[in-house]
Amino acid sequence: MKRRTSEQRTRLEAHVFVCTNARDSDYACCADAGGAAVADAVRDWLRERNAFWSPVGVSTTTCLGLCSEDGSALTIQPRNEWFSDVRPDDVPELLANEFGPDAERL
Ligand code: FES
Repeated sequence: MKRRTSEQRTRLEAHVFVCTNARDSDYACCADAGGAAVADAVRDWLRERNAFWSPVGVSTTTCLGLCSEDGSALTIQPRNEWFSDVRPDDVPELLANEFGPDAERL
């Protein structure tokens, strides 16, 4: 086992986790609400600003406890920001509000 905390703290300003959880029930889940497309939109926005993976990581994740049929759940850590009902079209405004329009607040 290797502790790599200092390496990640040096590289990362934030990490975006997008729920893409699927479930076999009638209960809402982010897989059915466009979670994969939201994750793609997050990556695209960051890539366009040369901020993908350094300094902002992106991962898909399982349920964040904010399930909705109207969009995916997303959290930005360690900023402790949480969103639900996120659609791909919401991503540019959401990330611009968080990181600045040109990702200058990273
Ligand atoms: S399934 Fe995405 S928050 Fe629950």
